[in-house]
Amino acid sequence: MRKTNIKLILTVIVLSSVLFFTTRCSSDNTNNNATDNAASASTEPFDTLKDIGVGPVTATMTLGAIDNALADSGSKIFTAKCIACHAIEKKIIGPALSGVSKRRAPEWIMNQILNPSEMAEKDPIAKDLLGRYIAQMANQNLTQDEAREVLEFFRRNDNK
Ligand code: HEC
Repeated sequence: MRKTNIKLILTVIVLSSVLFFTTRCSSDNTNNNATDNAASASTEPFDTLKDIGVGPVTATMTLGAIDNALADSGSKIFTAKCIACHAIEKKIIGPALSGVSKRRAPEWIMNQILNPSEMAEKDPIAKDLLGRYIAQMANQNLTQDEAREVLEFFRRNDNK
């Protein structure tokens, strides 16, 4: 009789701790997702599409239809110089870049690629990103034309 009681108590303890941990983990996941969504949506404290950033690109860019030749070159540059820290669909050291051309102005993307340190110091969006990622983006010394090609590659990804 005593033995069965102890067994019963033990089973209850084991079951409730399993329950406790599984609910905790799943609620943690929901929280993470919520923060991530908030980060990429328009709940940021600034108008993400009006901010053009700081750097060599100061003039408003007019973008036409997607240029596949440009995007192909951009894809090669991305593979050679960016995948150490970035993937399109998931965050690694830097943010996932899927949707980036929809959440940032094209001038901002160019300046982030060409001038990441000053951006992290002065631009409100880049500062906020730096606060959320452990590392600072490294300047990959792209020319302005190369940055434009990478931008076209992002646009093509975001308009599939
Ligand atoms: C050493 C790692 C590293 C490399 C290499 C790197 N990045 Fe980044 N990138 C980051 C980090 C970290 C952030 C976010 C924090 C920050 O701004 O420093 C970022 C941010 C960005 C953003 C802004 C993303 C957003 O959600 O607004 C873009 C765009 C970007 N990188 C493009 C590139 C491109 C294009 C290349 C290649 C030419 C590149 N990065 C190379 C680490 C890197």
